[in-house]
This record gives sequence, structure tokens and C-alpha cells, in this order.
Amino acid sequence: MFNKKILSISLVLILVVGIMLSFSNSTDAWWVFGGDDSKGQDKVKIGFLVKQPEESWFQDEWKYAQQAADELGFELIKIGASSGEEVLSAIDNLAAQGAQGFVICTPDVKLGPAIAAKAKLNDLKLISVDDRFVGSNGKLMEDVHHVGISAYNIGKLSGKTLAEQLKVRGWDLEKVGYLKMTYDQLPTIAERTYGATDVLLDSGFPEANVFETPMRTLDTEGSFDAANSAITKNSDIEHWLIAGGNDVSVIGAVRALEGQGFNATDVIGVGINGSNFAINEFEKDEATGFYATIKLSAKAHGYETATMMYNWITNGEEPPKVTWTSGTLMNRANYQELMN
Ligand code: GLA
Repeated sequence: MFNKKILSISLVLILVVGIMLSFSNSTDAWWVFGGDDSKGQDKVKIGFLVKQPEESWFQDEWKYAQQAADELGFELIKIGASSGEEVLSAIDNLAAQGAQGFVICTPDVKLGPAIAAKAKLNDLKLISVDDRFVGSNGKLMEDVHHVGISAYNIGKLSGKTLAEQLKVRGWDLEKVGYLKMTYDQLPTIAERTYGATDVLLDSGFPEANVFETPMRTLDTEGSFDAANSAITKNSDIEHWLIAGGNDVSVIGAVRALEGQGFNATDVIGVGINGSNFAINEFEKDEATGFYATIKLSAKAHGYETATMMYNWITNGEEPPKVTWTSGTLMNRANYQELMN
């Protein structure tokens, strides 16, 4: 009788301990008191999601964000997410890993409301970088903290560079075509190409020679394909100018022009970003049609955003609602100096 009782008590105990152990891996174990170690709450974890991990601009952002993580002692979780599905599941994943916030350059600005809602649901702090969210009403989501470039002004600097170089070359304007590499679905890119074009037109460039060249994708291939068809259609043009929202938008067009026999002597391309893709062009022995770029601060976009997020999580220090960063002209003459 007595032995039977001990046996059944032991069985119940084994069962209870078993259940507790099986729960201990769950992230929401309600019965754990005094700190939930399974979530690693003591360690600050910050996600950094980028839309195009293959683009050197985003690799630079990650590199600088990692520098902040190493200095401040938090864990940086780098995620490449190029579709809405990938972004939303990455956010769930971050929450499950016990992250407290994330910085994101979204693959589509219209995902803004879904991203903000998911961040809120998971109690994750959110800063958007580079590409600002657009709400369902088509307006910028000004309530989401954002770090981005001063796009129109940076575009103007690119246009000024084109206009100045055009004067230096002394070409007959009637024979010059301007490839305006557009990707208007992304407001920051649209503003950049509009800024460049406005300055060029103000300098006296003929409107009839502006070739609106829409890219299907914001990458070298998208630029190459779009430029190729524009160049083929305008075989009377002898010299070319190229402006685009970033370096890849210009590099593709430079390659397309090379393919049709136009080289540095007849092409002036000015990009934006100034990351490794641009530096590769400047390091080639022979100059290419990629004449210059506007170097942006990947450090401000990577290191500063990650640091802002860390201070927000640890000290409750809310970052400014919006931060605009600037750019500097970079070309073969000064790139080595600017790289350091
Ligand atoms: C966009 C572009 C990137 C880079 C950033 C800078 O995200 O796609 O190439 O120019 O803006 O903010």
C-alpha cells in the first residue's frame, strides 16, 4: 500500500518535471519566474534587414553596424530580405530570438504599414533606413523613425557635376544625349534623378535630348537593359551623359554604351553611393565612362542607426523622427583620400 503511494507520487513528479523541461525551450514559458533566460533578455539584440544584400552599399551598412555592435557589445542580426514574405518572417524570427528592435531598408516602401504593424505586435523598436515607408494613403509614414539621404540635393550635386564636365568637354549640345536612368516607384531614387535633371536643364541642356530611361529593376542588369534600348533607338547621338539614383543605375548604362563603342572620351556618367562598385571603376587602369559618384555616408546609415537603436533600447533615448545625411563628390582624383 505504502510502496504503491510512493510509486504513484514519484510518477506524478516525473511527469511534472518532464512537462516543465519540455516547456523550457519555448519562448513563452509563462511559468518561468525571475527572468526569461530562454529569450536571452540580458543581451541586447538588434536586427539589420536590407533589401539587396548583394549590393556593396548594403554590405557597407552592415560592416559599420557591426562596428557599433562590437564597440557597444550588442548582438547584430544581419538579414537579407528581398521580398515582403521574407521581411515579415524575418521580423517574427527576430522576435523569437529575443531581439528588441531592428533597422530596415525595405524591398518595397509600400510594405511600410505591414512592417510597422508587425514590429508593434512583436514589441520591437523600428528605424527605417534609406527607403522611407509609404502608407496606404500614398503618403510618407512620418511617424516611423527614419534615416535617409537628402535625395534631391544629392541629385543636384550629380547634375552640377554633369553640367561642369559637359562644359569642359566642349561638345556640340545637339549631339549629346542624356540618359536619365529612372526608377520612380522608389521616391528617394526619383528625387535624386529629378534633382540631377533640373540642374542640367537650368545649365542650358536641351530638353529634347533628355531620354527618360525607366529601369525595370534597380540593379546593374536593369540599367544595362534599359540603356541598351535607348541607345539603339538614338543612333544619331555622338556623346552621352548618364545620371541615376545610385551607382548600379549608372554602371549598367556605362557597360551598355561600351558595348556599342562609346568609351570614357564620349561618356560622362555620375553615380550615387560611392561604395565598392564605384571604387572598382576608378581603380581600372583605363578611365571608364563612370566619371564620378556622390559618396554617401554608409557609416551614418549603418553605425549611427544601429547606435541610435541601441540607445533607444537601453536608455529609452528616442532617436530624432528623421535624420538626413549628405554626400560628397568622389572621382578618380580623390577617391583614395575619401575611402579612409
Ligand atoms: C537606396 C538605394 C541604395 C542607396 C540608398 C542610400 O536604398 O537603393 O543603393 O543609394 O538608397 O540611402
